[in-house]
Amino acid sequence: MNSTFKMNSLGDGYRALVIGASGALGTAFCELLNEDPRCSAVRELGRNSVPGLDLEKPDSIPWAAAELAEEAPYQLILHAAGLLHRDDIKPEKSYSAIEADALQAIFQVNTLGPALVLRHFLPLLEPRGAMAVLSAKVGSIGDNRLGGWYAYRASKAALNMLIKTAATELARTRPQTRLFTLHPGTVISGLSQPFRGTSAARPASIAAHELLSLIDRLTSADSGNFFAYTGERLPW
Ligand SMILES: NC(=O)c1ccc[n+]([C@@H]2O[C@H](COP(=O)([O-])OP(=O)(O)OC[C@H]3O[C@@H](n4cnc5c(N)ncnc54)[C@H](OP(=O)(O)O)[C@@H]3O)[C@@H](O)[C@H]2O)c1
Repeated sequence: MNSTFKMNSLGDGYRALVIGASGALGTAFCELLNEDPRCSAVRELGRNSVPGLDLEKPDSIPWAAAELAEEAPYQLILHAAGLLHRDDIKPEKSYSAIEADALQAIFQVNTLGPALVLRHFLPLLEPRGAMAVLSAKVGSIGDNRLGGWYAYRASKAALNMLIKTAATELARTRPQTRLFTLHPGTVISGLSQPFRGTSAARPASIAAHELLSLIDRLTSADSGNFFAYTGERLPW
């Protein structure tokens, strides 16, 4: 499947930038893009890349963008970083488990950091290019039937608002730019590992293929919307 993968909407020799390139989905995006004969370069960014970009170190974001300005523009920017849990952070099952430190860390990685990524990396995107940010269906307020996961849900809902707001601005200033917030489905990764239960999690390679194909199909008229990997538009 991978060997035949080609993005058609970005032109020959397009350049891609993947933020969160070390994660399961980030790695799968990079592998696919590196195999696309139309893609001339894939720049991988993360906490351990050079330059480094750490969403919990806000100064690193403009710094990384400035370091990459010379090789810009990119025709495709993917933001595949995110945080659900780590040693000191567990998704809250009840409002009684809400902790200020965990809320702050999750919002820093999932919302505040990406807001600065929009500020500093959208100028590196070609006006006809596409940027997609990985969100999560649990960030949909309209679809919230189970409750729980306060910080993660709220951080992704706020992320969706940032994307919608930036896309609304871009529709006026750079109408051919495409900006999307995407739900990858349940994907096998460290992020989902403790919570997958019996649900059918998909390999990241398949999810990345589906998401890139979706980006390729979506037009500037779709910009600013929240899509699942299936192409379904999700409610805010
Ligand atoms: N997997 C799923 O089932 C699922 C479902 C819905 C939505 N998503 C979303 O999809 C995205 C990718 O998830 P994944 O499953 O690929 O997770 P993953 O394998 O855990 O990857 C997470 C990525 O985020 C990066 N990251 C975390 N904190 C960071 C920070 N402070 N600064 C910079 N980068 C940071 C990680 O970098 P390090 O390697 O440096 O830690 C890693 O590259 C996330 O936004 C997630 O919310 C995933």
